[in-house]
Amino acid sequence: MRRRGRPLQSEIDPSGKERDLSRLLFTGGTVVTAEGSYPADVLVEDEKIVAVGTNLDTNGTETVDASGKLIMPGFIDAHTHMDMPFGGTVTADDWATGTETAAAGGTTMIIDFALQSEGGTLAGAFETWTEKAAGKAVIDYGFHVAITDLRDDIKTELPSLAEKGVASVKIFMAYKGTPLYTEDDDLFEVLQLSREAGVLVLVHAENGDVISKLQEQALARGDIAPKFHALTRPPEVEAEATNRAIRLAEVAGAPILVVHVSCAPALEAIHLAHERGQTVYAETCPQYFALEYEDLAKEGFEGAKYVCSPPLRDPSNRPALWNGLKTGDLQIFGSDHCAFNYEGQKELGKDNFVNIPNGLPGAEERAMTLWTLGVREGKLSENQFVAVLSTNQARIYGAYPKKGTLAPGADADIVLWDPDLSITATAGNRHGNVDYTPYEGMEFHGGPASVYVRGGLVYKDGEIVGERGSGRFVERSFTATKGLEARV
Ligand code: URP
Ligand code: ZN
Ligand code: ZN
Repeated sequence: MRRRGRPLQSEIDPSGKERDLSRLLFTGGTVVTAEGSYPADVLVEDEKIVAVGTNLDTNGTETVDASGKLIMPGFIDAHTHMDMPFGGTVTADDWATGTETAAAGGTTMIIDFALQSEGGTLAGAFETWTEKAAGKAVIDYGFHVAITDLRDDIKTELPSLAEKGVASVKIFMAYKGTPLYTEDDDLFEVLQLSREAGVLVLVHAENGDVISKLQEQALARGDIAPKFHALTRPPEVEAEATNRAIRLAEVAGAPILVVHVSCAPALEAIHLAHERGQTVYAETCPQYFALEYEDLAKEGFEGAKYVCSPPLRDPSNRPALWNGLKTGDLQIFGSDHCAFNYEGQKELGKDNFVNIPNGLPGAEERAMTLWTLGVREGKLSENQFVAVLSTNQARIYGAYPKKGTLAPGADADIVLWDPDLSITATAGNRHGNVDYTPYEGMEFHGGPASVYVRGGLVYKDGEIVGERGSGRFVERSFTATKGLEARV
């Protein structure tokens, strides 16, 4: 089996012929990119794609039989939280298990959120996250830096992020009462500074003040169960903050990206901005398609397994979200993988829903959810599937064309997608480090048969085969996205 990190060399096969292991030919499959689908072979040499086509010069090249499979660019998940302190605890997946569960879902690169610590610097966040990933990541990665404390020295420091290959920062408009929460004046100034620095601002858009007030009122009534997490964060609270962030970006003359859009009213604010011609990018996530408010309202404390922010919604929001993905109002499908164990972590909120750590695992289920509910149901084409999982993310986040495409010169990040694969999710067959899955019992149709990062096999037929520590940091540059239309 081809393993990551193995020196590329030649070998003599059993028939005595020399085989060139520095080259790899994917043959017999259908190439599927964001632009189109066609039968072709893909030739890889020294970690890069060197040719896509037919009748390639392949004498002595090791081959991978891709017949019956779709050959896709590796998926990018620009919304993960590995080994992150949050909600009074630390996320359950570190950079080893977190990148493994992502790889098992067809992901070859993540962009994770490096948090500025209290009193800390942006460089400090970058260094801390670099250390967390070192020796552990099985796939490639980048960082967004979450600005939590906009001091004067941070304002001066911000432009240096671009030099480190960090092309994006994040601001949390929610989580009032925690160090993450950011007021409008700071959000506005970050937008101005980032525009000058060539850095894209991502926002978690929920009105932190109103949520805090609604939570206080719920607790005063004795409403402590998990379902009150959603009832104190109604769609309007997300829609208001989404519109506010977009308008602040408009005043600042800056592009903006709204993460984890969960509901129709928030999407409406994005759609209206696009009608005005404003550059607004937006992401949605698998949990808003596969899970729903009723999961939170389950008996007893079971609903804690479904607590994330924005919360799970009524399914009546879904047609609008599908339409957003189809028309380009939503360009990105990220996981927001932020895993906590039920035992000992979700349980922190047993007597008060406010203390349940917010977040769900989903990196492994992301692409399979989109294929099962979207492509198989005729809501999205296979090319739109590749666009929102890979190509749009590479372009918007400044990693294109190194990542996000199957073209000569690109990194050989490849997913062999098996449309005939079926799997029922259960906690025991997940590759992460979590004691439950919110997708328990869900049947997925279509999934990755094998996954390659820079030509090296990292996942095959249910097994992780990549070496921990083989993932590399990818420098990104927002200039790569200059001039990109809001609807990619
Ligand atoms: O519930 C969530 N989404 N947790 C992760 C942190 C965030 O807000 O993205
Ligand atoms: Zn968030
Ligand atoms: Zn998140």
